[in-house]
Amino acid sequence: MSQKIIPIVCSITGLAVIGSLLFVMAGAPPQELLAAKGGGKAVKPLEKAFPHSQKCKRCHLRVFEEWEASAQSRSIETAAFRVSLERFMASPKGKDGAMCFRCHAPHILEYPDHVSMFIKEVQSRDPQIDGVGCSQCHLIEKIDSEKRPPHPTFTLGKTVYGGYKKPVDNLAHQSVALKLYRSSQYCVTCHDVLPGVWKKGQIPDLLGAWQKTKAEKRGKTCQSCHMPEQFGESANGERNRKVANHSFPGRFGKVRADAVTLTVKTQVKGETSQVEVTVQSLVPHNLPLPHPGWSRVVLDLTILGKNLKKSYGEQRHYERVFGDQKGKETIYDFEAVKVLKDTVLKPEEKRVEIFTFPTPKDAPSMDVIVSMHYAEIHGPKDFIKAVEEQATLGRKDRAFRPVQIIKYKENIPLKK
Ligand code: HEC
Ligand code: HEC
Ligand code: HEC
Ligand code: HEC
Ligand code: HEC
Repeated sequence: MSQKIIPIVCSITGLAVIGSLLFVMAGAPPQELLAAKGGGKAVKPLEKAFPHSQKCKRCHLRVFEEWEASAQSRSIETAAFRVSLERFMASPKGKDGAMCFRCHAPHILEYPDHVSMFIKEVQSRDPQIDGVGCSQCHLIEKIDSEKRPPHPTFTLGKTVYGGYKKPVDNLAHQSVALKLYRSSQYCVTCHDVLPGVWKKGQIPDLLGAWQKTKAEKRGKTCQSCHMPEQFGESANGERNRKVANHSFPGRFGKVRADAVTLTVKTQVKGETSQVEVTVQSLVPHNLPLPHPGWSRVVLDLTILGKNLKKSYGEQRHYERVFGDQKGKETIYDFEAVKVLKDTVLKPEEKRVEIFTFPTPKDAPSMDVIVSMHYAEIHGPKDFIKAVEEQATLGRKDRAFRPVQIIKYKENIPLKK
């Protein structure tokens, strides 16, 4: 991070001052922050065509800090990504690994001959290029949704695209408002289809029938839940206005509270008891999204009996289990030729789970605990070991931590 960060006030009245300040800081006229070329294929060096997010931080501190905390800012930095990219490249369909960058660092689409550089950056563990950074998103001008996967067109020039109709002028870039930025289709580009590795119709898409959901019909786009509206500065020192949170809450962050509701009915019938759990997904897409292949949500029932000792436990898994050429289970979705089992919660699905178990003996009451969480990473031993070795924090890496979604507890008196 060679850039020295000096807070700059971006106000119309201060424009002249900003201009010269930036000039000194960046060593180039601010107008050249973005490559001065409109449209067409990239001829500029990659760093100029897709300025690093650090460059936007100068004026968009709030956005930058939110984004930096998001999963998207680490899209080519995690140990799990490094290891699975390696496995992919060693697989028959892997060739050069470009397929993975298509979403994890989409500027590869403009620089297809840079794949080996991208791979080296990933292997360095501290990539100097962005994965899904500011430029990778805000230089998208069009998305061809007829293509599978939908294909983004970048326009590399002085203009950034966004959702504001009336952005304040600034010296770094021009701004153009596009409806696209407030539509789900924008996000679906990278969240629905793995290109090239699956034959047509072989494996269902990742999101499920999101278009047909109540949420989408009510106009709730991906952004409305995952870039929730807030009030604040869009650029440093500008007046407060409606802004969009860039921490992309998902598996982590606040939206989790609105993922599901659980209704629990417990019946004690003498020596056996029954717990009926109704899981209502409020999520207008599959839960979990079945990429990477080890994605799994667990519904856990725990019964505590005498002295709060565990007397029973059972789990249900929500996941897509992939099968490879030989029909064997695989966590590598890029090897998948079929789906062996698909228990993900479909968009807005209501599912009833029934658990039957022996009533705890000699206890005045029992605790019924129902909880749901994202499971930690799982897979073949050598894979898990490699991820652990590659992760700076080893087993403490976030991939090894289950993430709780919801927890319900009740105490049921038992007859003697
Ligand atoms: C250029 C491709 C791309 C686009 C466009 C994109 N995403 Fe993502 N997104 C990714 C990648 C890659 C990750 C995974 C990063 C990681 O964890 O390695 C991700 C992660 C996420 C996560 C976090 C997932 C988790 O497990 O918590 C959320 C939420 C998310 N994106 C929402 C959105 C929304 C909403 C939009 C549209 C405004 C969007 N994305 C557009 C590529 C993209
Ligand atoms: C269609 C776009 C797309 C493609 C292609 C793609 N990914 Fe992802 N990847 C995503 C998104 C989006 C997420 C976040 C998923 C979520 O949380 O729901 C993600 C998450 C991941 C994760 C878990 C988060 C992390 O960074 O540790 C790994 C690992 C991963 N991808 C590896 C790969 C590999 C390896 C390839 C190539 C074989 C690949 N992906 C291809 C979009 C894509
Ligand atoms: C010299 C300061 C400065 C720098 C550097 C800068 N911006 Fe901006 N940007 C602004 C100002 C000022 C606005 C207007 C904010 C407002 O309207 O409240 C803005 C607005 C935007 C918008 C909203 C446009 C719209 O139509 O919705 C986006 C997107 C954006 N900038 C992206 C970027 C990206 C990406 C970078 C880095 C490549 C960047 N900016 C670098 C000052 C800057
Ligand atoms: C995954 C794609 C994605 C990434 C990454 C991303 N943005 Fe955005 N950004 C959007 C979308 C979509 C909107 C419009 C949201 C809306 O209006 O609901 C937006 C809105 C904005 C706005 C105007 C609203 C606001 O919150 O101020 C600015 C400025 C902006 N982005 C700058 C940036 C900067 C700077 C970065 C990098 C630190 C960045 N964005 C990273 C997709 C992205
Ligand atoms: C009505 C709100 C809502 C809308 C609209 C919505 N989501 Fe989600 N999304 C959620 C919730 C809630 C979760 C679950 C968070 C949890 O359980 O931790 C989630 C989880 C995710 C995750 C990460 C979790 C995983 O299982 O891997 C991604 C990525 C994501 N959504 C992308 C999208 C995309 C892309 C769209 C648009 C097609 C979208 N979402 C539309 C509410 C929404």
